[in-house]
Amino acid sequence: MNISKEELESYWKNGFLVQNSLFSIEDTQQLIDSLTEFAKQTLPGHVSENGSSIYRAFHGCHLYDETYDALIRKPELLQPARQVLKDEVYIHQLKVNLKHAFSGDLWPWHQDYIYWRNEDKMPTNALVNVMIFLDDVTEFNGPLYFIPGSHQYGCIEVSKGNSSGGWEDNVSASLTYQVAEEQVSSLVNQGGLFSAKGKKGTAIWFDGNLVHASPQNISPFQRRIVILTYNAVSNSPLDQNIVARPDFLNARARQPLRERLSGVLSDMENN
Ligand code: SIN
Ligand code: MN
Repeated sequence: MNISKEELESYWKNGFLVQNSLFSIEDTQQLIDSLTEFAKQTLPGHVSENGSSIYRAFHGCHLYDETYDALIRKPELLQPARQVLKDEVYIHQLKVNLKHAFSGDLWPWHQDYIYWRNEDKMPTNALVNVMIFLDDVTEFNGPLYFIPGSHQYGCIEVSKGNSSGGWEDNVSASLTYQVAEEQVSSLVNQGGLFSAKGKKGTAIWFDGNLVHASPQNISPFQRRIVILTYNAVSNSPLDQNIVARPDFLNARARQPLRERLSGVLSDMENN
C-alpha cells in the first residue's frame, strides 16, 4: 500500500501525485450509490450552486454514511497519507464535489491551506488532499487545473474577497481567498499547467498549498469527485478560543485513524 520513493519525490517536487485506477469500478460504484440517498436529504453540509437549488457539494459524508466511513480508513489511502505527513493522521474534511452536466460551476484559482489556517487556526500545512474520481474526468467535464510546483511558494497572502462571512462562501464559485490573476500568470510561466484527468477510480494526491482551479462544466457529462483531507495528528487546529466551524468543515474527531479490519479478524477484535 506504500507509495514508492520515486512517487514521493515526485509529490514533493510537483505538489501532486496521480495514481491511475487506484479503486475498482465496484468500489467506486458503492460511493456513487450513496449519493442518490444524500441528494434526497436536507443536511447542513449540503451546498447548492449560487442562485440555484442544484447541489454543488456534500460535506462530511463519512460522519453519517458507512461507505464513506470505510473509505477514510482504507489502507490504500491511510498508508500514503502517513508516509507523506510522517505522522498518524485523521480526516479534517471530506466532501463530494458534484459538477453537474451543463450547469456545474467553476472554482476560482486558490490554495486550500489558507482557509484552514485562517478559519480553523490550523498551525501548518502538514496535511494532504486526495481526490477520487467517481466519473471519468476528461478535458470536457471540468477537471481541476494544477500549477505544478506552486506549493513551493507556501501560503500566498491574499486579501479576503467579497465574503458575507458565512462558511458557504469558502466553497462557492465566488471563493473567499483567491489568488490574483497576475500571480497565477507568473506561477504558470514558471510551472506550466497540469489538467487532472483520469478514469473513474483514479486517485490524485495534492498539497494544501498547490494553486488550483477548475472551469465550468458545460459538457453533457457529470463530474463527481470525493476530496479527503488528511491532517497530521500533531497539526490539529488551535481552535479552542474561536467559534469553531461545523464538524463537517473542521472535524472534532482528531484521534489517529486505524485501518478497518474485515471478516474474521474484526469479529475476533469485537469479542
Ligand atoms: C476544490 O478546489 O476544492 C474543488 C475543485 C473542484 O471540485 O473542481
Ligand atoms: Mn481547493
